[in-house]
Amino acid sequence: MSKRLGILSAIACVLAVFLAAGLYAGTTVPDTVKMKNENAFDQHRMPIVEFSHQKHTADDGYGIGCGECHHDENGEPLTDLKAGDDVQGCFECHSGKGAGTPKDFMGPKPDAEALNAYYTAVHVNCVGCHKKQGGPVACNQCHIKEGE
Ligand code: HEC
Ligand code: HEC
Ligand code: HEC
Ligand code: HEC
Repeated sequence: MSKRLGILSAIACVLAVFLAAGLYAGTTVPDTVKMKNENAFDQHRMPIVEFSHQKHTADDGYGIGCGECHHDENGEPLTDLKAGDDVQGCFECHSGKGAGTPKDFMGPKPDAEALNAYYTAVHVNCVGCHKKQGGPVACNQCHIKEGE
């Protein structure tokens, strides 16, 4: 009887691991994020950016830590973030609406007030790292027209 129980609980363990992996890959941590924030922008004038969350974070991808993009209410990096944690969208804090100009993110780092704009915060994060570590900087390499 104890042997059968052992086998059953082994199966349960394997299942739990699979469930956890499924959660990580799909539901909780997104593979790809379609960046189309309709609260920040009344309309999108540029093609929608498809951000590969998976490629950026995976060890066999670019291996970037969560804290490079996600931080707390003081701007301190959330380095210990795990699948299943509650993660706030950028707009919850960088809640300024509307688009600015490329000057907002192609020039020197903007101050805290300018960073309040979602447009600026997102571009500074993405383009700022790409300028240092490689990755697309040209508009149409991120804002890719469908079918191209
Ligand atoms: C590294 C990728 C990346 C690059 C390069 C980039 N953008 Fe963006 N852009 C984004 C993301 C992500 C958003 C946020 C979209 C959202 O969440 O709705 C955005 C939003 C925008 C928006 C507001 C939404 C819209 O479609 O009207 C405009 C305008 C814009 N970008 C213009 C530009 C211009 C102009 C350039 C080149 C000077 C550029 N971007 C370069 C990633 C990028
Ligand atoms: C290169 C930047 C980057 C890295 C690295 C990164 N993320 Fe994200 N993540 C984002 C962006 C951008 C979004 C979309 C946020 C939004 O829509 O406002 C997002 C969204 C999420 C969401 C969904 C939040 C929601 O609104 O539903 C979760 C969960 C998440 N990330 C977890 C993680 C974890 C865990 C790690 C580390 C293993 C990680 N992220 C690493 C940029 C990143
Ligand atoms: C819980 C609130 C909160 C959330 C959610 C949040 N931020 Fe921030 N962010 C801040 C604060 C506070 C600062 C610090 C401002 C300063 O440096 O004066 C900051 C600073 C920044 C900076 C400038 C610092 C740097 O790294 O160069 C960027 C860029 C940025 N955030 C982008 C993002 C992006 C992209 C997301 C979503 C993935 C995000 N933020 C989510 C609160 C938040
Ligand atoms: C901390 C650094 C870092 C941040 C932040 C970052 N990236 Fe990247 N990104 C990279 C690296 C590294 C590459 C790979 C460059 C290469 O292969 O030469 C890359 C590649 C890309 C590519 C081209 C290949 C692919 O994966 O599709 C796109 C598009 C892209 N990033 C979009 C974004 C967007 C949108 C954001 C912001 C939401 C962002 N990145 C934030 C480091 C970063």
